[in-house]
Amino acid sequence: MRKHAIAAIPADGIGPEVIAAGLQALEALARRSGEFELKVEVFPWGSDYYKEHGVLMPEDGLARLKAFDAIYFGAVGAPDVPDHVTLWGLRLPICQGFDQYANVRPTRILPGVTPPLRDCGPGDLDWVIVRENSEGEYAGHGGRAHRGLPEEVATETAIFTRVGVTRIMRYAFRLAQSRPRKLLTVVTKSNAQRFGMVMWDEIAAEVSKDFPDVTWDKMLVDAMTMRMVLKPQSIDTVVATNLHADILSDLAAALAGSLGVAPTGNIDPERRFPSMFEPIHGSAFDITGKGIANPIATFWSGAQMLEHLGEAEAAKRLMRAVEKVSGSGLVTPDLGGTATTQQVTDAVCEAIRAENL
Ligand SMILES: NC(=O)c1ccc[n+]([C@@H]2O[C@H](COP(=O)([O-])OP(=O)(O)OC[C@H]3O[C@@H](n4cnc5c(N)ncnc54)[C@H](O)[C@@H]3O)[C@@H](O)[C@H]2O)c1
Repeated sequence: MRKHAIAAIPADGIGPEVIAAGLQALEALARRSGEFELKVEVFPWGSDYYKEHGVLMPEDGLARLKAFDAIYFGAVGAPDVPDHVTLWGLRLPICQGFDQYANVRPTRILPGVTPPLRDCGPGDLDWVIVRENSEGEYAGHGGRAHRGLPEEVATETAIFTRVGVTRIMRYAFRLAQSRPRKLLTVVTKSNAQRFGMVMWDEIAAEVSKDFPDVTWDKMLVDAMTMRMVLKPQSIDTVVATNLHADILSDLAAALAGSLGVAPTGNIDPERRFPSMFEPIHGSAFDITGKGIANPIATFWSGAQMLEHLGEAEAAKRLMRAVEKVSGSGLVTPDLGGTATTQQVTDAVCEAIRAENL
C-alpha cells in the first residue's frame, strides 16, 4: 500500500467548504483504488487564527509542513483583514519558502459547461498556463517612504534572475513537449519593459534550442488577451511572468466558464519540498456559508496533486468522474445550475465508486 501524507489548509471563506469536498473525493478514490492511502492532517491556519494569535500560521509552520508529501490549500482572505497581510502571511511564505517556482494552471471547457465565447466548445480551449511563481513582479522588493506626506514615495521592483527565468522556461518547454501539440507561447512585454523582459525573451530563445520539436512563439501580454478571446484554438501551453500569468489565468478561467472550475499547482519540480495544490479562486465572501461553492476547481487541483504524487490513474479517474457529473448538468449556480456543493461532491464520489474502468 502506497502512503501519501497530505497537509490540508482550508483557511478562509469557502476554503473549508471546498477542501472538505475535495478530501471526500480523494478518500473515495483511495478506497476505490485500494492501492494507496492518504494520511491527512488539517491545519487551522488563516484569518481566524490571525485574529487570535497575530500571525496567520505559527513560526514553525513551514518546518511542520516540510514533513508532508503535498499541501492541499483552500483560500485565504477575510473582509476585515487587509489582503496583503493574509496573502503575505500564509500563501506566499509557503510558495516562496518551498521554492514552488512553477505555478501550473490547466484550463479546458468541461462537458456541460456553456462558456461565454460563441463557437468555442469542449476541445477548442485546452490550455496550460505556466506562471513564474518565485520572483518577477511579486518578489516583494520595494518600500515606502514619507508615509502620508505629499512627498510620499512607493516602489515595487520586479526582479528577474537568469536562474529564475531559465528554470521556468525549461519547465514550460518540457511541459509543452509532453503535450500532443508541442506548442508553446512565451508571453512578454519587452517592447515597454526593456530590461527584465528583454532578458526573458533572450532566455526563451536560448532554452528553445534544447527543444527543437516544440513550436514556440512570442506574444506581448496585451495582444495575448485578444488572442485568448478571438483565437483560443491557436493556444496550447503558455509561459508568463508572475503578474502577467496571474491576470491571464483569471481570464482563462472565465473563458472556460467559471473561476469555480480553475485549478492550480504550486510545484517544486525538483521535489526538495512539498508542492501545494489549490483552486485559483479566493475566499468568495459573497457565497461563503451558502453551500453553493463550486468544488470542481478543488477536485481538479486534487487531481493535479495525485498526479504529482505518482497516482496518475486515480487522477484520471477523478477527472472522468468530474466530467461525467458536469456533463449530466448537475452543476452549481456559477455554472448556471442549482446544485449544492454537497450534491456535486456526492455525485462525483458516486461516479468514482461506480466506475468500472
Ligand atoms: N489563493 C488565494 O488564497 C486567493 C486567491 C484570490 C483571492 N483571494 C482572496 O479572496 C478574497 C476575495 O477575493 P475576490 O472576491 O477578488 O475573488 P474570489 O475568487 O474570492 O471571488 C470572485 C468571484 O468568483 C466567485 N467564485 C469564486 N470561487 C467560486 C467557486 N468555487 N464557486 C462559485 N463561485 C466562485 C465569487 O463568488 C465571486 O463572485 C480576497 O480577500 C482575496 O485577497 C485569495
